[in-house]
Amino acid sequence: MIINWFPGHMKKTKDMITQHIKLVDVVVELLDARMPVSSRNPIFDELVGSKPRIIALNKADLADPTCLKEWQAYFQSKGTPAVAIDALHGKGIKQLMAGVTEAASERIEKFKRQNRHNFVIRMMIVGIPNVGKSSLINALAGKKAAVTGNRPGVTKGKQWIKIRDDIELFDTPGILWPKIESDRVGLNLAYTGSIKDDVLPIDEIALYFLRDVIPMYPTLFEERYKCDVTGIEPLEAMENIARKRGCILSKNEVDYNRVAHLILDEFRRGMIGQMTIEKPSDLNQA
Ligand code: G4P
Repeated sequence: MIINWFPGHMKKTKDMITQHIKLVDVVVELLDARMPVSSRNPIFDELVGSKPRIIALNKADLADPTCLKEWQAYFQSKGTPAVAIDALHGKGIKQLMAGVTEAASERIEKFKRQNRHNFVIRMMIVGIPNVGKSSLINALAGKKAAVTGNRPGVTKGKQWIKIRDDIELFDTPGILWPKIESDRVGLNLAYTGSIKDDVLPIDEIALYFLRDVIPMYPTLFEERYKCDVTGIEPLEAMENIARKRGCILSKNEVDYNRVAHLILDEFRRGMIGQMTIEKPSDLNQA
């Protein structure tokens, strides 16, 4: 299956992010901890240039803890610090802010050399849709974000939210489009819900999901569905789950659409378990 989806306004988005990045001292690249490379658009490197940056691996609560550490080490080895966060529950925020301060250390030194002690570091969050940008802005800014965004008559954008005495956040996140370089990247984006389900054949996506992810986490699937799912064809696994969960139409036929939604929904909520669907070791095989 070839997934080739992108929003139509890439040039406009790119120009907008380029302009805004000029205004900030540190850029936070928000990635999905379950698929850090699939959720990364390489154009980010071009947009950010030499500006200090830090990676936030979001949805860490849904990811495999071992893989999370491996990914952090991987990005660190490439020269970019990476912090694990859970924006929804406000976890890892302190560490992220420590990372932002660290990333801005040269700038801070410069301020200090100039005897400017009331300096403010400005940061911006960038990432593909659904990666958690709004959740992170909320976690950082709380009510302040809502107030800024909802004031009638106030132009949206180019507004700074003070999140600490020395740190301000650009209130509008930079939305990058995903770069679908391979079928696997397209599928990873579909599995996690980063590409909207309504543009995809959901039953096929769930089938590919079972094909790709059951072999990575066989025990988690067995424990969750309590039926035969490993070492068999994905279609058979899907039918077994459907029967176990009552996704059945009249005449005892499997309701493929319903079971597909059920499986993907449970994965996205972390109900099957903490899973990372893209590992650093996959990169060497590519
Ligand atoms: P965006 O601005 O980058 O598009 O992302 P947003 O914050 O809207 O988050 C997208 C979805 O991901 C939301 O789910 C949000 O609750 C969830 N989310 C964000 N950060 C985390 C996290 O660290 N952990 C977990 N478990 N979930 C997170 P949603 O409200 O269900 O929206 P939708 O996916 O149904 O659209």
